[in-house]
Amino acid sequence: MSHIIAPSLLSADFGNLQRDIEMINKSDADWFHVDIMDGNFVPNLSIGFPVLKSIANHAQKPLDIHLMILNPDLYIERFCMEAKASYLTVHYEACTHLHRTIQHIKKQNVKAGVALNPHSPVHLLEDIMEEVDLVLLMSVNPGFGGQQFIEQTYKKIEQLKKRLISTNAAALIEIDGGVGLNNCQSLFSAGADVLVCGNSIFASENPVAAIEKMKNQK
Ligand code: DX5
Ligand code: ZN
Repeated sequence: MSHIIAPSLLSADFGNLQRDIEMINKSDADWFHVDIMDGNFVPNLSIGFPVLKSIANHAQKPLDIHLMILNPDLYIERFCMEAKASYLTVHYEACTHLHRTIQHIKKQNVKAGVALNPHSPVHLLEDIMEEVDLVLLMSVNPGFGGQQFIEQTYKKIEQLKKRLISTNAAALIEIDGGVGLNNCQSLFSAGADVLVCGNSIFASENPVAAIEKMKNQK
């Protein structure tokens, strides 16, 4: 099991974005988690390509891009080429032809992820699990940082882990929303590989120390 920490830039100070990116570059964090929202799939807007390209120019760690948008197929090449995604994750609930979308991402030589909203059961991924590199379980309703973790997520991690093992699938399990020092150890123990942390890092007095503590949970 991996212990990957992916700070979510949604909680960064956008007036000092380069400073916050450099802080993550120097920290023990593994990836940058970048949230893209379209105001349709989720009731919020975040950032577009100009900002994303600046992030890609300064970030020295893989970009884990989480698309909370409808019709992601329209922009896959741009997220892969211009934004240099390492992992590109789309929502199950936003993709009518999920298999096609996943193949589209993989054709760009980028790792493909699929995300599930809190109400979507893990078994929905039964027939796509072996195709994806990452499964993102939303542990809050998507759209905003700083929300409370939904405890039902633990059950979903266990179910997903079992299914991945029984099908010999290698997808990483990523948890996104309400993750912090209070629950990172139990999430890793439950089977999570990647923890996205927004507020718990950027609102902390010492973000570098917070990342180090989360990263080094046994
Ligand atoms: C929410 C986003 C998250 C968000 C997490 O829709 O997908 O990545 O930034 O923020 P925290 O860690 O503050 O819940
Ligand atoms: Zn996210």
